[in-house]
Amino acid sequence: LSEFRFIVVGSGFFGAAMAERIATILREPVLVLERRHHLGGNSYSVPDPETGIEIHPYGSHLFHTSSDAVWQWIGRFSRFTHYRHRVFTRYRGRTYTMPINLMTLNTLFGLDLTPEQARGFLAGEAAREPYPDPANLEEKAISLVGRRLYEAFIKGYTAKQWETDPRELPADVITRLPVRLNYNDFYFNDIYEGLPVDGYHAIFDRIFANSLIHAVTNCDFFDVRALLRPDAIVIYTGPIDRYFDYCCGRLSWRTLDFQIERPPVADWQGTAVVNYAEQDVPFTRIHEFRHLHPERRYRCDRTVIMREYSRFATATDEPYYPVNTPADRRIYDQYAALAAQETQVVFGGRLGTYRYLDMHQAIGAALKAFEREVMPLVVPA
Ligand code: FDA
Repeated sequence: LSEFRFIVVGSGFFGAAMAERIATILREPVLVLERRHHLGGNSYSVPDPETGIEIHPYGSHLFHTSSDAVWQWIGRFSRFTHYRHRVFTRYRGRTYTMPINLMTLNTLFGLDLTPEQARGFLAGEAAREPYPDPANLEEKAISLVGRRLYEAFIKGYTAKQWETDPRELPADVITRLPVRLNYNDFYFNDIYEGLPVDGYHAIFDRIFANSLIHAVTNCDFFDVRALLRPDAIVIYTGPIDRYFDYCCGRLSWRTLDFQIERPPVADWQGTAVVNYAEQDVPFTRIHEFRHLHPERRYRCDRTVIMREYSRFATATDEPYYPVNTPADRRIYDQYAALAAQETQVVFGGRLGTYRYLDMHQAIGAALKAFEREVMPLVVPA
């Protein structure tokens, strides 16, 4: 351990991109420490041992970006399929396309509106129950799209995702609700989108195959920290409150429980992700992974589905989404001030900066942080 000057804590996309930059640009050996039994963080995917279907154990991960720099960087480690993501929502025994678009409106209300008519229709829906000064998320949503759309697609889903009645959530959680007045039901609008041809695990295998990168799994940084050399430069992508031993308090997180099933059918739900909008259905969505790779020839006698449940994280749960209450922001600001005093440590990634980041954002942030924060530590100005 003491031979490495560069230590990366965490092997998700932020840590992986950092390690790759240090090895490729600086040509320095770098040690990557990963607490879990595999590399790749939450973006990891792996063929299911029972069916061969590529599964995403931490929820479906769709790669999309409009950044040329990020697309070029990841393109060095994989080709991508032309998969474009669509999401459907179940509500009262029927299936609707998401985000709310002209097809969703016409199906829910049994209409055949044109885009212009839909604009007037939506304005009418919102005008039925106006809230000029909305006091909470429910009033805000109704003031934007009206009660009927709110109750169908927002109320139950939001309540489940946050375990909180939308009347108790602040109005500023939403500034706008994406309603498309056309039939575009592609979930993302980025320039580049697709899935790695041979899975995310292959991307991480290729990144970590660099002979200057030494990756160790099942290793918690805090168990070996004392063994580091004193001048080590640490890129830390774990939870920022843990780094400072929770001295300013614990940040709050949402966690997810995943339940995998392998029904003996060729196709269980006809698409990769279906949301469940009703509050009395305990899970928020079901993933069916075979649909992420329609180009592959999977077996037809079984499929893999995964139900996703959302709840507040306890101290021992995996943190997934920052809750980000005003109290959390105050705590985070204190940690950020402490982090700024650490001259040999770069904090990054979703856990290290207490921010939700998509994969392309984590990679983009790492590429920038390498230039702005790591390079100045090694190359004198
Ligand atoms: P990430 O969490 O991936 O990696 C951090 C790593 O650090 C983990 O492996 C952890 O074990 C390790 N670690 C922490 N503490 C440690 C310690 N003390 N010692 C050693 N190791 C330690 N994005 C997207 O672009 N498209 C999508 O479709 C989705 N979908 C999606 C679904 C769900 C359910 C979630 C929760 C997230 C997504 N994402 C996503 C976001 C995506 O997961 C995210 O962008 C990346 O995981 C961010 O990479 P990081 O490296 O920041 O963290």
